[in-house]
Amino acid sequence: MDITLGWYLGAVPLLGWLLWWWNDLWFAYWLKRRCSASGTELPPGHMGLPIFGEMLSFLWYFKVLRRPDDYIKVKINKYGKGVGLYRTHLFGSPAIIACSPSTNKFVFQSEDVFNLEWPAIEIVGSTSIVAVQGESHARLRSFVSRAINQPDALRRIAHMVQPRLIEALRSWAHKGRVVAYSETKKVTFGNIGKLFAGLEQGPVVDTLDELFTGLLKGIRSYPIDIPGTAYHHALQCRKRAMGIFREELERRKKKPEEATKRNDMMDGLMQLKDEQGRHLSEIEVLDNIVSLVVAGYESTSLSMMWALYYLAKYPNVLKKLREENMLLSKTKNGEFITSDEVSELKYTKQVVEETIRLANVAAVVFRTATKDVVYKGYTIPKNWKVMLWVRYLHTDPENFEDPMCFNPERWNEPAKPGTYLVFGGGTRICIGNMLARLQLAILLHHLAVGYKWELVNPNAEMSYLSHPKPVDGAEIVFSKL
Ligand code: HEM
Repeated sequence: MDITLGWYLGAVPLLGWLLWWWNDLWFAYWLKRRCSASGTELPPGHMGLPIFGEMLSFLWYFKVLRRPDDYIKVKINKYGKGVGLYRTHLFGSPAIIACSPSTNKFVFQSEDVFNLEWPAIEIVGSTSIVAVQGESHARLRSFVSRAINQPDALRRIAHMVQPRLIEALRSWAHKGRVVAYSETKKVTFGNIGKLFAGLEQGPVVDTLDELFTGLLKGIRSYPIDIPGTAYHHALQCRKRAMGIFREELERRKKKPEEATKRNDMMDGLMQLKDEQGRHLSEIEVLDNIVSLVVAGYESTSLSMMWALYYLAKYPNVLKKLREENMLLSKTKNGEFITSDEVSELKYTKQVVEETIRLANVAAVVFRTATKDVVYKGYTIPKNWKVMLWVRYLHTDPENFEDPMCFNPERWNEPAKPGTYLVFGGGTRICIGNMLARLQLAILLHHLAVGYKWELVNPNAEMSYLSHPKPVDGAEIVFSKL
């Protein structure tokens, strides 16, 4: 009896204490001593339980309470705002959270010591633009930028994406009630298939759409390659998608004369050469197609869904948007709008920016420290992950007044320096940023001049993992004006 009581009174609390501080003792104890010897400190924070780290707390705020910003606010209340660095342990790794404009700027601009590491790069492609470094990266970036992100390319793309967008809106009105997220995914994928690999709408594009949905789920799953896991499924999806793109590539090699007519991403990558005149290998071309689809597909579809969502919630914004776009529409006689015309639509561009800010498609951007780095007296230890918590920048009232309000007019003034990092920063800044903005603006134009819609569940709960979206995918009742 005495022994049992002694066990409860002594050992259980001790065990609890040990578990609670386990990761701090294991990862931070010696580091703290080393830092203090060199006159620095580890950022404040708590690293949580063995193996799980702070995952339970993270999931509590993101999944259970559905108040993701409180995860950071609690840290600020506990440790103070300081320089905006906190230590933690998330997704299986010790990590430093950077959640102030200055720390984000510092990390994005110190590329020599903070490496980009995509999760499950074997699914995205280890020779793709998101994986390679140095000269190969610069060469690919410059090509991709010319192909999809610069004025000439955008002029061509504006023309190319409109038939599918216009047709999609017609079909939504015909159905009457649609899930916005499923529909924006379909139309985005159709356009991406055409833009990147010249694929026309049909069974091949539908199969690829399914394969990429599986592939994307695997990128965010635990990397356990056994049948039944999301990761294993994603690898299978990648293999099949690569097979389809490879067939297309083989077909093109046999008919090189068709390339000038098509002028799409696959042709461009096939022709790309380095200084020694070496072409990309077959796997490099395919990896890059896959990685561009991965980067551009979900991000664009989600932003489009959020535009529909917010415009339904803020009719006064839709009214102003409609007025601006009706003026343009009257001059067009049913022709497609051009990217130059889009750039004149001041209010529409503000709606685009506000949608992307609040969509927070990329809530956190990951880097890894390649050596101990000191910032304003704090050490970011070698091999620790650095999590650039850009979502917090976009929802902090110090950066954006009444941050959760959808207010396009806040863009009458530019954002304060370093507070708007929806597309990341440094040399890895999103290479599809102008393409994403253009597609969104074109969608807004056709929506505003031709259609009206309402949310079926205006008070639907939000889910924040893997990306923020209403749980019903923003179901809408949709009809012609
Ligand atoms: C609203 C839509 C989008 C958002 C919010 C977004 C966000 C981002 C962010 C935050 C990064 C930086 C990642 C990092 O530093 O680790 C990034 C990189 C990238 N994005 Fe986007 N993106 C969007 C649309 C697109 C589109 C349409 C494409 C093109 C098809 C694209 C292609 C890429 C690529 C290739 C990279 C990697 C660049 C590199 O490593 O050099 N993105 N994006």
